[in-house]
Amino acid sequence: MNRAFNFSAGPAALPLPVLEAAAAGMTDWQGAGCGVLEMSHRGAAFSRIIAEAEADLRALTDLPAQYKILFLQGGATLQFSQLVMNLLDGGSADYLVTGTWSKKAYTEAARLAPQLGGTVRLAGEAVGGVVPREAMQLDPQARYIHLCSNETIHGIEVLDEAQLPECGDVPLVADMSSHILSRPMDFSRYGLVYAGAQKNIGPAGLTILFIREDLLGRAAAITPPLLDYATQAAHDSMLNTPPTFAIHIAALVLRWLREQGGLPAIAAQNAKKAALLYDTIDASGGFYRNTVAAACRSRMNVPFFLHDAGLDAEFLAGAAERGLQQLKGHKSVGGMRASLYNAVPLEAVRALCDYMQDFARRKG
Ligand SMILES: Cc1ncc(COP(=O)(O)O)c(C=O)c1O
Repeated sequence: MNRAFNFSAGPAALPLPVLEAAAAGMTDWQGAGCGVLEMSHRGAAFSRIIAEAEADLRALTDLPAQYKILFLQGGATLQFSQLVMNLLDGGSADYLVTGTWSKKAYTEAARLAPQLGGTVRLAGEAVGGVVPREAMQLDPQARYIHLCSNETIHGIEVLDEAQLPECGDVPLVADMSSHILSRPMDFSRYGLVYAGAQKNIGPAGLTILFIREDLLGRAAAITPPLLDYATQAAHDSMLNTPPTFAIHIAALVLRWLREQGGLPAIAAQNAKKAALLYDTIDASGGFYRNTVAAACRSRMNVPFFLHDAGLDAEFLAGAAERGLQQLKGHKSVGGMRASLYNAVPLEAVRALCDYMQDFARRKG
């Protein structure tokens, strides 16, 4: 086996024990006589799998009892539309924009809202950081406030609850796709949280959603049943065939996460990884730079730039030779990006930092 250190932004590295368990059970999962790919979603074996996934998610996140967990499809992108259909309820919604993903969510909401008899407001915008509280212009009557708590492309993360809007009774909605399960969070602050699975939870094709029960049942009349949170909740995410294999892998990841010591333990590891990489960037004397405000530098996605973009191709080729993969930055911003999700080990970050120092010595 020759597994590289994988810094992909998503679909991203998965823990090796998870892949091995999935492979070992591919043709016969725990004596079921078939693999998870081949079994009915309504049978006893799969019912156990999804129940375990839900129980582990609740335990890991300490999710309050009044929240439902939904296992959905369509990626986080479908949520940009679906949450509007479910929560706008003929009113107005506030959006905070801090990068590509929150901008996409806002743009889609602005497109849909008039068709649903509602409106959307840009309540604050920031470049290279979170929106400062004093710059937020919040509507106390808003149906919800939306933000992206970790901008995967720009590497901007809400690291401190004091950076969240003061919502009063307005439900806070967060796209947590790229940092959910990376550390303990107080989910009682949110009305709705959603995340595509393909970073910290499992494979692409599964979206996890936490929703406070009082927000169910507000969908616009035109909402298809499959997209209505209340209908999905009433059917335990089994209104139609769910993405069974993706849920199976997610269940294995969640078990692995519990075995690592849960979110406090993984958070300590993630903080160490991020500190190592940011220190390497900051100590490079300008050879590498990251331009995000220090108070919101993402621990999951670290974009960085070489002082001379003409060296990018050589940097990437040398990294690949050392088994350091998928470091090219998003095409919209260029440069490099290292994603340090839960399954990326500390050794991977050490190897990356050693390489960066060596490259800077040779080229600086
Ligand atoms: C923060 C964030 N939101 C939304 C998306 C879109 O996710 P999907 O491709 O699952 O629709 C991504 C994808 O990387 C993301 O990082």
